[in-house]
Amino acid sequence: MRLAIVGTGMLGGAIARRLAATRAPGAPDIAVAGRGRPPGRLAGVPGIREAATPRAAVAGAEIVLLAVPPAEVAALGLDCPGALVVSVMAGVPLARLGAITGAARVVRAMCSPAAEQGLAYTPWIATEFVTDEDRAALNDLFAPLGAADEVGDEALIDLFTALTGPVPGILAEIARVLIAEAEARGAPPEVADRAVRQLFLASGEVLGRGALGAADHVRAMIDYAGTTAAALESLQAAPLRPALAGALDAAIRRAGNIAG
Ligand SMILES: NC(=O)c1ccc[n+]([C@@H]2O[C@H](COP(=O)([O-])OP(=O)(O)OC[C@H]3O[C@@H](n4cnc5c(N)ncnc54)[C@H](OP(=O)(O)O)[C@@H]3O)[C@@H](O)[C@H]2O)c1
Repeated sequence: MRLAIVGTGMLGGAIARRLAATRAPGAPDIAVAGRGRPPGRLAGVPGIREAATPRAAVAGAEIVLLAVPPAEVAALGLDCPGALVVSVMAGVPLARLGAITGAARVVRAMCSPAAEQGLAYTPWIATEFVTDEDRAALNDLFAPLGAADEVGDEALIDLFTALTGPVPGILAEIARVLIAEAEARGAPPEVADRAVRQLFLASGEVLGRGALGAADHVRAMIDYAGTTAAALESLQAAPLRPALAGALDAAIRRAGNIAG
């Protein structure tokens, strides 16, 4: 598949580097473009060809992946009616993506810079014109980036833009509070920082790759009736859920106006 990526910053660059590093032998180079002319951010990366402009990058591409700031996409002047257009931009609806690019086969996805490590979560939704063959190509595109799901409701893309688009995203704030609390209880700052980072690393492995789900872990720890049960019961009595719900609602509202 001839792939073009427009936008080579934090997200587009991460995706481009991962796809270039994992592409099949003999696959065509990935054409990329940002705002400036080459050499750009991905100069010299094997498997990547920098084009002079976004329009030059998408010329002849079968898949066009858009990763520019949401407010910039309309001004790109892209016209790619025959391509499968995939957006990973926050807050740009499917209908608008079609109008901007002239494409009927359009996919709105969310992803994260963790794609570079193969650790992103990529939910996506497609227009009715996307074919089974396209879905196979999308599977090949998304699989190297991490886990992916086709979803049936476009509103879920805004939800996951808040929840899984940024990494570490809202979990960074939880880690920051835990580090501050450890310091307030006498842990030296570098010890508190190392301890909480290690907690998140281990928790990511256990929760992300293990057989038990989050609710199973919580139940098991409460049933164990040790110190963690006391902590969890205190946490469940506190207003954690409304605080997280408010955070998600705020991000979803922002997705509604970020593209201008
Ligand atoms: N970063 C994240 O964690 C994250 C997560 C989920 C979704 N997203 C989405 O990904 C998109 C890109 O975000 P980012 O964080 O990667 O941004 P970024 O690091 O600022 O990179 C933006 C890229 O877009 C290019 N660009 C900007 N304006 C352009 C224009 N008018 N014409 C052509 N290229 C232009 C830039 O070109 P230059 O290289 O020439 O500057 C750069 O390559 C956004 O829509 C965002 O909502 C980001």
